[in-house]
Amino acid sequence: MNIVITGASRGIGFETAQLFAKQNHQVFCLTRHTKPLEDLKHQHIHVIATDLSNTDSIHQAVSQILAKVSHIDIVIHNAGSLINKPFENISYQELEMVYKINVFAPYFLTQQLLPVLGQASKTHIVTISSMGGFQGAAKFPGLTAYSSSKSALVGLTEILAEELKEKNISVNCLALGAVQTEMLAEAFPNYKAPLTPIEMATYIYDFALHGAKYFNGKILPVSSTTP
Ligand SMILES: NC(=O)c1ccc[n+]([C@@H]2O[C@H](COP(=O)([O-])OP(=O)(O)OC[C@H]3O[C@@H](n4cnc5c(N)ncnc54)[C@H](OP(=O)(O)O)[C@@H]3O)[C@@H](O)[C@H]2O)c1
Repeated sequence: MNIVITGASRGIGFETAQLFAKQNHQVFCLTRHTKPLEDLKHQHIHVIATDLSNTDSIHQAVSQILAKVSHIDIVIHNAGSLINKPFENISYQELEMVYKINVFAPYFLTQQLLPVLGQASKTHIVTISSMGGFQGAAKFPGLTAYSSSKSALVGLTEILAEELKEKNISVNCLALGAVQTEMLAEAFPNYKAPLTPIEMATYIYDFALHGAKYFNGKILPVSSTTP
């Protein structure tokens, strides 16, 4: 299969990309820091230096993908940006940056990949949101930009699923609970998450491969601790 995953230089995305590559899938990784993936020297990992906050960069990445394959089976919108700051101190630029990566990039990357989605077989698009963006779940002060953007991603998933269902494309969202990654450690230095990146990656890998058979337009909370 041909897989596109964003933000695979570290954390959950890094582990997920490797799980696919180890099973001989072709994995296109869109990320700014390319070295961690290049150091793997895996023939099935195709690293495409991409800044997802920049539409030209997204466009160039898609051109590189389309030059190599004519069909994409799975897209995982994993890249994320988190700012932990009181509401009154968040600048317009910070809010914009978080939304560019968490909402605009999944939107425009999906739009530009559309010609190669749902062609040879059903394409499964998986958006990675957060329990912080899941209606009714516990919310944390300092995450207005992050959690509201992840809620927007939830909404985007539902409406995209409806709009794309006739094109042989399913769209589902995984709203993750806490995972012990650098993002989490930077935002909450004293918190210890119950899951490692590889544990969460294993779930995402399996869901991306099989979830479209059972779900479309669904927002699935993946957390044993957050209500
Ligand atoms: N860890 C948790 O507890 C948790 C909980 C709920 C949801 N999530 C979600 O799960 C996803 C993965 O999180 P993580 O904890 O693994 O985060 P992470 O360790 O910070 O990794 C985030 C990835 O996003 C990429 N990224 C950020 N800005 C980018 C940009 N402008 N262009 C391209 N890529 C960019 C980074 O790659 P580059 O720096 O190389 O660009 C990095 O590989 C995120 O969407 C996050 O919101 C995580």
